Amino acid sequence: MMNTRSLRFRITAWYAGLLAGTLMVFGASVYLGLERYLDWTLQRTLVAECRTIATQLLSQLPAKDTAWLATEIDEAYAPEVNGLFIRVVHQNTGVVYLSGTPKDGTFEPWQIPFPRDKEMDGARKLQFESGNRLLINSMTVVTPAGNRFTVESGAPYHQIEVVLHGLLLTLAIYMPFVVSLAVAGGYWLMRRSLQPVDEITKRAEGITSTNLSERLPVIRSGDELERLSMSLNRMIERLDNAFEHINRFSADASHELRTPLTILQLELEGIAQNHRWDGALGDQIGSALEETHRMSRIVESLLAISRLDAGEVKMDKARLDLGELAASTAAEMKLLAEEKSIGLHVHAETGVHVVGDRVRLQQIIVNLIDNSIKYTQVGGKIELRVGEEGNNAVLEVSDNGLGIPAHALPHVFERFYRADKARSRATGGAGLGLSIVKAICAAHNADIKVSSQEGRGSSFRVELPLMPVFADDGASAALREI
Ligand SMILES: Nc1ncnc2c1ncn2[C@@H]1O[C@H](COP(=O)(O)OP(=O)(O)O)[C@@H](O)[C@H]1O
Ligand SMILES: [Mg+2]
Repeated sequence: MMNTRSLRFRITAWYAGLLAGTLMVFGASVYLGLERYLDWTLQRTLVAECRTIATQLLSQLPAKDTAWLATEIDEAYAPEVNGLFIRVVHQNTGVVYLSGTPKDGTFEPWQIPFPRDKEMDGARKLQFESGNRLLINSMTVVTPAGNRFTVESGAPYHQIEVVLHGLLLTLAIYMPFVVSLAVAGGYWLMRRSLQPVDEITKRAEGITSTNLSERLPVIRSGDELERLSMSLNRMIERLDNAFEHINRFSADASHELRTPLTILQLELEGIAQNHRWDGALGDQIGSALEETHRMSRIVESLLAISRLDAGEVKMDKARLDLGELAASTAAEMKLLAEEKSIGLHVHAETGVHVVGDRVRLQQIIVNLIDNSIKYTQVGGKIELRVGEEGNNAVLEVSDNGLGIPAHALPHVFERFYRADKARSRATGGAGLGLSIVKAICAAHNADIKVSSQEGRGSSFRVELPLMPVFADDGASAALREI
C-alpha cells in the first residue's frame, strides 16, 4: 500500500518536473525568438525609412530648400505624433532637419548625441533616464549633386517591450495552470492504473499455506499487470501442488505404516501372553510392546493431521453446547489432574451454541488440558473458561505451570515441535498434540492463540464462530411467529 503510494507520488513528481522544465525551455525560446524577430523588423523599418528619405527627398535638395524638406518629412512621417526621431545632417552646414519632441515626451530630440564614427551606417540603442529606450539607425548618403548627408531615423523600443511583456504575462499565468492540470490528470491516471496492484497486494497478503487454492484477481488489461498477476497465480498453483504433494506423502506414509505396526503389536502381545517369560527377556518384550504402542499413537496422529489438512476428513457437524461439552470433558479428566494434585477449575457458561464435530472439539479440550497437566508442577492450578465474546464462542485453558519460552512460542503448533525435548519425551509426547488442535480449529473456522510467560504459566484461547441465531430452533420458531 505504502509502496504504491510512494511510487505514484514519485512518478507524478518526475512527470510534473519534466513537464514544467519543458514548458520553461519552450517559453524562454519563444520569448527570445520573438524579441529577436521584433528587433530585426524594427531595424529594417528604420533602414527603409532612411533610404526613402535619401532617395526621394535629399536627392532633390539643391533645387528645393530645407523648409521644403521639413514639410515633406513631417507630412510623410509625422514624427511628433508617432513618437519617432528623424535627423538629417549636412556634412558642411550641419543639421538641416530635426524632428520635434514627441507628444508622449519620451525623449528630447536635441539632446540625442551624434553617432560616433563606428556607429555610422548601423543601429545603436539609447537608454534614457526614464527607462525608455530608442533604437536609431544612421546612414551616410551622397546625393547626385555631390552633397554628403547623415540620415538618422529612430523609434522607441517601447512597442516591442509591450508585446514581450504581454507574452511573459500570458506564460506566467498559463504555465502553472497547464502544469497543475497535467499533474492532476497524471496523478489520476496513475492511481487508476495502479489500483489493481493494490488489490493484488491485499489479496497476496492473505494467502497462506492453508488457502493456497485461492487465486489473485487477474486484470484483463493485456499489459504487464495482466502478465504479472497471471504468473503470480501460476506460482501459487505450483506451491499449492507442492503442498498437496507433501500432505499426500505424510498421509500415505502413515497409512502404510499402520498395518505392519498393528501386526507387530499383535505378534508381541501374542508372545507375551503365550509364554510365561520371566526376568530380563520379559521386561524387554514389555518395553518393546510399549514402544510399538507409542509408535502407533504417533502414526495415528500424523495420519489424522494429514487428513485434516488435506480436508479429507468428513466432519460430523451438529449444533452443540460448547460450555456443556467443556464441563463434561473436564470432569472426565479431573482424576488425571488429581494424580498430580493439580486443581482443575471450570467456569463454563452453558448455552454457548456452536456448530461442530463433537468428538473433534472434545479432542481440542482434551489435548489442551492434557498439556496443562503435563507442563504444570505438582500442586498447580488449571482453569477452563467458556463464554461468548461478540460473535464468537471463546474457550480458554490457562495454567500456572512452566510456561513456554518466548523463542518457542511461534513454533508450538508445528508438527513434532517440543519446547523442551528431554522433558517432553519423558512425559510421552511427540509434539503432535497442538498440531492436531490447530488442524481441527482450521476445519471449524476457529482461531487459536497462545500467550505464555516462562515460569509463570500459559494460556491457550480458541475462538469459534457462534451458531447464527436464525438457525437456533427457539429463535427461528419465534421468528416464524412474527
Ligand atoms: N500448557 C503448556 N505449558 C507449557 N508448555 C506447553 C503447554 N502446552 C504446550 N506446551 C509446549 O508446546 C509443545 C508442543 O505441544 P504438543 O504439540 O501438545 O506436544 P507434546 O505435548 O506432545 O509435547 C510442548 O512440547 C510444550 O513444550
Ligand atoms: Mg500435547
